[in-house]
Amino acid sequence: MQICKTIADLRAWRTPVVGPVGFVPTMGYLHEGHLSLLRRAREENAAVAVSIFVNPTQFGPHEDFQTYPRDLARDLQLIEPVGVDAVFVPSVEEMYPAGASTVVTVEALSSSLEGAARPGHFRGVATIVLKLFHLVQPQRAYFGEKDFQQLRVIQQMVRDLRMAVEVIGCRTVRERDGLAMSSRNTYLSPAERQAARLLSHALSHAQAWVYEGEQNAQQLVTYIREILEGEPLARIDYIAVVHPQTLDVLETIGPEGAVVCLAVWIGNTRLIDNMPVGAAAHGHLPEVAGPAADSRPLV
Ligand code: PAJ
Repeated sequence: MQICKTIADLRAWRTPVVGPVGFVPTMGYLHEGHLSLLRRAREENAAVAVSIFVNPTQFGPHEDFQTYPRDLARDLQLIEPVGVDAVFVPSVEEMYPAGASTVVTVEALSSSLEGAARPGHFRGVATIVLKLFHLVQPQRAYFGEKDFQQLRVIQQMVRDLRMAVEVIGCRTVRERDGLAMSSRNTYLSPAERQAARLLSHALSHAQAWVYEGEQNAQQLVTYIREILEGEPLARIDYIAVVHPQTLDVLETIGPEGAVVCLAVWIGNTRLIDNMPVGAAAHGHLPEVAGPAADSRPLV
């Protein structure tokens, strides 16, 4: 496993590689969600690269860039058994040379949901992912459905810019009690961790209601709101029922189904989650983390 700290190191690794390269961009503090993407990349490609870079441009001025959890030694230990070939861990200066002023804006999908709540967020994400794609030159790149809008934004960027990389969406990996795995879950106190179960709980209910025939999106939002408002530690940022491709907010859940997206503050931690409903949910059973995660105590 080669650790590449500079672009020059990465190029030296990449140049002689023959066959398809699978790439997983991350911000580190890895968990089973990230590892599931790496394992899939390992299965489907001749070589696998992962990047670990906490990207400053996708954080707002009052967000957690400084405090975002970082532990490279731990990450490398987790990556090692998967059989990754290259780990790219650049500095901020390496990715953003002084005076850098080129950005990528995916206009279509970036202004709603997370984009509305976090102005500039997807510009930061698209800019760094484009740079990483350009440097790693993968044939395939793996993204989690956990960040559903991000996945769609990157797919749109690749399509628009005619890039030769296949963007593959992978199921959300959850803790045994349903909480979507996230590096930010480490911010939660034991009481908040308990309360955070409510997000996936509410989304599973939404899935069941649609399965039982509910088609009115506003009604679904009302039901979810009622569940979340029952938890004193939770504060809703948004609940939205959107079209699985366009991310347009729906009034009625049609033949293509929908994705229910949530952003909820639990104490000082902002968590996001989503679940497909109706036709979009077909064959989409929840992915629960493997035995290693199962043996961890539920807080
Ligand atoms: P990060 O939050 O570290 O996530 C890296 C990748 O792991 C993303 O594609 C994300 O959707 C996926 N992921 C996170 N939690 C997951 C889970 N529980 N199940 C499945 N996949 C999961 O997303 C980013 O970093 C950054 O925005 C990045 C794309 C690296 C650009 O800076």
